[in-house]
Amino acid sequence: MNPKRVGVLVSGRGSNLQALLDACVGEFPARVVRVISNIPGVYALERAAAAGVPTTVISHRGKERAAYDAELRAVLEADGVDIVCLAGFMRVVGAGFLGGWPVLNVHPALLPAFPGMHGVRQAIEYGVVQAGATVHLVDAGVDTGPILAQGSVAVKADDTEESLAARILPLEHKLLVQALRQVAEGRVVVRGGRAVVELGVGERRWWG
Ligand code: GAR
Repeated sequence: MNPKRVGVLVSGRGSNLQALLDACVGEFPARVVRVISNIPGVYALERAAAAGVPTTVISHRGKERAAYDAELRAVLEADGVDIVCLAGFMRVVGAGFLGGWPVLNVHPALLPAFPGMHGVRQAIEYGVVQAGATVHLVDAGVDTGPILAQGSVAVKADDTEESLAARILPLEHKLLVQALRQVAEGRVVVRGGRAVVELGVGERRWWG
């Protein structure tokens, strides 16, 4: 079967994008065919270019959500994208963007706790002793869609937002790659608002 065509939306450093680029080779059932950033000049765009993946910058500034969604959709549709990954994309996509393809998001917290911006900072400020990462399918809410995979790390007494985020990040990379594989292989169905995942050998939905 032909690998699924993946569009990745980014806003910054692009370490999750890099994990996808590194994974999407050989027998992996997906390929990154387009990277879109809403911010010009971010490092994620360099990572894409270094991997030979075409990039587009589509600024959200001064645009209505619906118009912005339509602009994103048009570029990805022109590339024949099957699956979209939000990999550090710091914008909410609206209803006009959803539908027609699965949209995966990686979030640096154990959802449904600490959705939205600054998930790691919220976890530290709340005083949790386990933090983590979630990969989920995007729905019309903010970080509310069906959960595909999660992983946790213990919070240390002297953790800062930066130190904790640095321990969560490798989990994000692993979970995002695994979830993309499962979706690309058609092993995920949504039933009653929850994701049901047919697990392969060595796969778990919970890490940490
Ligand atoms: C990641 O930690 C990702 O989970 C987070 O932004 C970071 C991007 O890093 N996303 C969100 O907070 C979305 N609400 P990266 O650019 O190195 O992948």
